[in-house]
Amino acid sequence: NSEKLWGGRFSEPTDREVEMFTQSISFDRALWRQDIKGSRAHAAMLLKVGLLAHEEERRIQEGLSRIEEEMTNGTFPYRDEYEDIHMNIEKRLFELVGTPAQKLHTARSRNDQVSLDLRLYVIDRSREMAGLLAEFIRVLIGQSRRMRDLILPGYTHLQQAQPISAGYYFMAHAERLLRDRQRFLEIDRRLNLSPLGSGALAGTTLPIDRNHVARSLGFSGVTGNGLDAVSDRDFVADFLHAAVMLSLHLSGWAEEWILWSTREFGFVRIPDRYMTGSSMMPQKRNPDVLELIRGKTGRVIGHYMGLATILKGLPLSYNRDLQEDKEHLFDAAETVRQSVTLFSRIAGESVLDGERLREALSGDELLATDMAEDLVREGVPFREAHAIVGRIVAYCERERRKLASLTDEELRTFSPAFPEQYARVLTPENAVRRRNLPGGPAPEQVEARIREIERELDGR
Ligand code: ARG
Repeated sequence: NSEKLWGGRFSEPTDREVEMFTQSISFDRALWRQDIKGSRAHAAMLLKVGLLAHEEERRIQEGLSRIEEEMTNGTFPYRDEYEDIHMNIEKRLFELVGTPAQKLHTARSRNDQVSLDLRLYVIDRSREMAGLLAEFIRVLIGQSRRMRDLILPGYTHLQQAQPISAGYYFMAHAERLLRDRQRFLEIDRRLNLSPLGSGALAGTTLPIDRNHVARSLGFSGVTGNGLDAVSDRDFVADFLHAAVMLSLHLSGWAEEWILWSTREFGFVRIPDRYMTGSSMMPQKRNPDVLELIRGKTGRVIGHYMGLATILKGLPLSYNRDLQEDKEHLFDAAETVRQSVTLFSRIAGESVLDGERLREALSGDELLATDMAEDLVREGVPFREAHAIVGRIVAYCERERRKLASLTDEELRTFSPAFPEQYARVLTPENAVRRRNLPGGPAPEQVEARIREIERELDGR
């Protein structure tokens, strides 16, 4: 056990089963970039406060560069008996540069080190997600503008409700993704403090400069209490929550388009490259990608539950349970990254079938609300108008007629308030155009909202 970085007080080697059980190198190698970045900043600070000599610091930085190369070209000799990424890198540094490596861990514990690495990782991943979501939203803006005038039935309870435009529809999904993007950006803001210098739990007696490290890593300050800092994984939970919300949005949308791509609906045509076939049924064209996006949502929710369950009932401060946070984080991050990337392409490259949408709109009872509001315009109280139009809808259903086909005489039998030639204005296009209020589907309103969103995405 003299091989081990903590081997001094041990009198026999670690049990091999224990090594395999406690290792995290098989997954926390994902943190190598962050670990090296943190070590570089730490070493630079140790030099500044006089805990490292120039030559020692230079050799450490050079060694870390060599390790970076090995990581990048795949030659780094990972060893699971060194437990985790932190000790693997430190051990390798010693092999490469000798004694200076033994000073790198001065005034540092793996507890504040892993907290730092994880924070850097979550910052990177949150920014990546914010960027991917911005691209996705721009794709939707493009679709919205292209399909500005395409009318489709809007649904509540999956029953036809009121006409909307495809422009409005795409921007509804964009709004959800915009909130997801904001959530990822907020994580970044909240976790933006450096934990380095918290040591194992109670800092250090050595004269380090925490702010120097924090500044050089781009943090806005340092954490306020070491005992808390080494056990704080709130930011991991924040990330997973953002990932869960995003997954829920994608999952609901996937369900919608799975339905819309059926023969029965036929509203959307997803390109072949995003569809898969059946090994038995030659005619099949299945939306597996969307189904997997829906399915993987279960996995992301599971990761949130997994993390919360690990944190539940943990006493302060670092406990080894915390090592279990990583796979939840890594897998959730990778899963949402893939889902967003693919969905963004599917959303941008699929086409809505105008003919099928027109067919779906051919029964015009989804214009009933317009009719009731037009009676209100003539002075009829809304509740009364609602009842009148309800009777008209029932009449049309019985007589197999459309609302827009009723004559002035027929309408007058239900209410004298209907103006001359009223039925002619009842079209789905008008229904959309007339809903001209902030947040409404009229094309100029959708465009106004798009401009606001673009400003937000451009950081203006
Ligand atoms: N691999 C460990 C983790 O990910 C690093 C911290 C270990 N600290 C300790 N005191 N054993 O949590």
